[in-house]
Amino acid sequence: MKGVILAGGQATRLYPLTLVTNKHLLPVYQKPVIYYAIEKLVGAGVDRIMIVTSPNHLGSFVDLLGSGQNFRSKKSGKQIQIVYGIQNAASGLADGLYIAKDYIGNESCILYLGDNIFEDDISKHVKNFKSGSLVFLKEVADPERFGVAEMDKKGKVVGIVEKPAKPKSNLAVTGMYIYDKTVWKKMVGQKPSKRGEYEITFVNNKYIKEGSLRSVILKKAWFDVGTFDNLFAASEYMKKKNAKDIR
Ligand code: G1P
Repeated sequence: MKGVILAGGQATRLYPLTLVTNKHLLPVYQKPVIYYAIEKLVGAGVDRIMIVTSPNHLGSFVDLLGSGQNFRSKKSGKQIQIVYGIQNAASGLADGLYIAKDYIGNESCILYLGDNIFEDDISKHVKNFKSGSLVFLKEVADPERFGVAEMDKKGKVVGIVEKPAKPKSNLAVTGMYIYDKTVWKKMVGQKPSKRGEYEITFVNNKYIKEGSLRSVILKKAWFDVGTFDNLFAASEYMKKKNAKDIR
């Protein structure tokens, strides 16, 4: 399975930190944000990754990550592969994923929003994935900030609403998704949302309609570092974790 990390966007909520650089290059404690994404995927056995970013910051990503020479495959011990895709406009997550279509080819893929940091181990989900799609949910106190899952009595996701005013649950859809090769067809016919973007929630709802979307509820920490508070909280968390690991 190949991975796609979306690392574009203007990150205006983090101005002036992101006036001359990209959010995914900012530090979370002792590493750039994008390292957490790469390490999570590589730790789950995903060795071929496309990073999709905007043209103005592409050079910095290449300077930092090159072709992947600083990351080793869990299986082979050899260098992983990193390639790049260019997203000219901030036109949404589904649009960003579509840039990787030819790179992914006929395989399944894992889409990872580069500003998300996950502590749960996802290896078994990647290894056991066969078809349909898999989303990762997390209980949150402020669901209206996210895509929110509506669940039936059996715990199955029956709908996802993007940033609902009245959330039907407190389960946020986090920024990590596994898709089979039918994902590309599911983007056809999508119109830009109210915020002018091609939404990944549209694609997920197509899988729900088809009855092939499954979900996992994450147990450990999850951060979406798009705000000052979350960026700071993630750094604090990693500092504490690091101190524990060294002891
Ligand atoms: C995106 C998705 C949303 C998801 C969130 C997770 O929101 O559209 O469904 O819950 O990422 O970080 P955005 O960050 O684009 O507002």
